[in-house]
Amino acid sequence: MNQIKISPSILSCDFSEIGNEIEKLNNSGADLIHIDVMDGHFVPNLTFGPPVIKKIRKCSKLPFDVHLMISPVEKYIQNYAEAGADIITIHPEATDNLSRSIDVIKSFSKKVGVSLNPETPVSILDDVLNKIDLILIMSVHPGFAGQKFIPEVLDKVKFFREKIDNEKLNIDIEIDGGINFETAPLAIKAGANILVSGTTVFEGGNSISENIEKLRKH
Ligand code: DX5
Ligand code: ZN
Repeated sequence: MNQIKISPSILSCDFSEIGNEIEKLNNSGADLIHIDVMDGHFVPNLTFGPPVIKKIRKCSKLPFDVHLMISPVEKYIQNYAEAGADIITIHPEATDNLSRSIDVIKSFSKKVGVSLNPETPVSILDDVLNKIDLILIMSVHPGFAGQKFIPEVLDKVKFFREKIDNEKLNIDIEIDGGINFETAPLAIKAGANILVSGTTVFEGGNSISENIEKLRKH
């Protein structure tokens, strides 16, 4: 049984208090901090870039799990590495050469994630599975917090869990979008070991640490 990690998405935090919001995560039981970078082009929403990440880096020692929803992504990887990312996750559709972009992330000694949109097939990872650290399965169409979980993506989680276990690969399976107290158990059962959550962590009805514990334990 894998240990379940929780990666709160700061997309749902109060941006007028971003430093305090990050600090609240420090002793909350969060394992990582999920940082959604959107460019208004690859996805229909715009968030923030490296200068903001660099500033909030001072607020926490937790690993920064940076989810890049920007295209073309490769030329910006260095900026995110230098801003303080620990894991850099990219979408295959945002690069003309996935393998090369992965190598660029590795050249900065960062962990590599690749994210699959709900409609992206598992086969897209065939040639790169041996050199990535994390698979991010999108369970909503990327762009916004607070969307409804798409249960069909659980088949992809199951597929990768089986493959990773059978082949003894050292790869995390993270799931992102619509994770709440009802969907978290489904994702865990399918084989995800990192749960991203924005709305439920920050607005789940209890304190941040209680919401995190409830997500992990369900
Ligand atoms: C969606 C983002 C998610 C989002 C999750 O494009 O990648 O990380 O913030 O938010 P919830 O948990 O509210 O679905
Ligand atoms: Zn995300």
